Amino acid sequence: MTIGDPDQASARLWADNWHLLAHRSELAEPRDFVRFDILGREVVLHHDGASVIAFDNRCPHRGARIFDGDAGRERFLCRYHGWSYAKGRVFVADKASLAHCPVDQVALNTLRLEWIGDFAFVAEAPVQALEDQLAGLAPMLAAMSRGIAARWDFNRYLYEADWRIALENALEPYHVGPIHPDTLATLKLQPGKNRYYGRNSVWSAPLGDERMVKRMRSLTRLFDLPHQFEGYESLYLFPFTMISSTFGFSQSVQHFLPASAAGRSHFTSRLFAGRLKPATKPDLVAPLMASSAAMNRAVFDEDHAICKRVPADTWSMDPPRFWAASEEKLLHFRESYRAALSG
Ligand code: FES
Ligand SMILES: [Fe+2]
Repeated sequence: MTIGDPDQASARLWADNWHLLAHRSELAEPRDFVRFDILGREVVLHHDGASVIAFDNRCPHRGARIFDGDAGRERFLCRYHGWSYAKGRVFVADKASLAHCPVDQVALNTLRLEWIGDFAFVAEAPVQALEDQLAGLAPMLAAMSRGIAARWDFNRYLYEADWRIALENALEPYHVGPIHPDTLATLKLQPGKNRYYGRNSVWSAPLGDERMVKRMRSLTRLFDLPHQFEGYESLYLFPFTMISSTFGFSQSVQHFLPASAAGRSHFTSRLFAGRLKPATKPDLVAPLMASSAAMNRAVFDEDHAICKRVPADTWSMDPPRFWAASEEKLLHFRESYRAALSG
């Protein structure tokens, strides 16, 4: 392939890399599932009654899709001819009628799945070990994952921008003033610090409003958070995932997965509520979670509206010619992108 072909590049980034796709709390019970679209295919994470698996959402018989919804709790049953799956085994309907076939070879097309703390990472044909890909971020991710209690909000739509455009927007705070005046900008984010971990990065920025900081600090006592940054923190996990949080009370996990339609991406954002101290009544923090979810949705709508205005062919792997200091992570992303696709 040439690394200039955007679809082939996206397919290769998907196949070669590990992707954080779910939190353990979403897959805690038998039959729980979460589904993702990626370049005309689908991957599902599913609790099969014995363990959590990731598989290509197609029946091993003649390929019918199994799970339709975005997430939920459902039995793994193919509607077409009634094959089902549980605890690592495919159950073939009327098995005797397939006696002339190698039925013992029937299997799902599974993907690799590994855990960092309570985060599930999935990969098709990874070129490196997960810990190597995370380049030092694993302990922080594990701690973050343990500070999560449950999914609070699930927000998904077809984003009308190429994933590279959408992702780069998420990587730079330069646009916060003009695009998010009434939402994100109210946090008065101070010039933050970028730290790089291989192809991943972390941006942490203190809040500029002292009263807000005081109020946030007073809320900290309600939570049991093994990892907390007192400010706004945004992690980028190469290639498609962002995690952002204010004070760690909730974590917003966002995906900008490539779509097969040109100039579109599969956007999903989930808000995960932080773990509470045993003495904290969940009702006490429900309003905070609800307002964080509403705020996040508004911010992503604002991002979507501006990203729609940026044509896919404005993007290239070369560094942008003009860039603000706060757009520094774009250079890192483009360099990572080139490196990941060369060789
Ligand atoms: S396609 Fe699923 S049972 Fe036939
Ligand atoms: Fe934004």
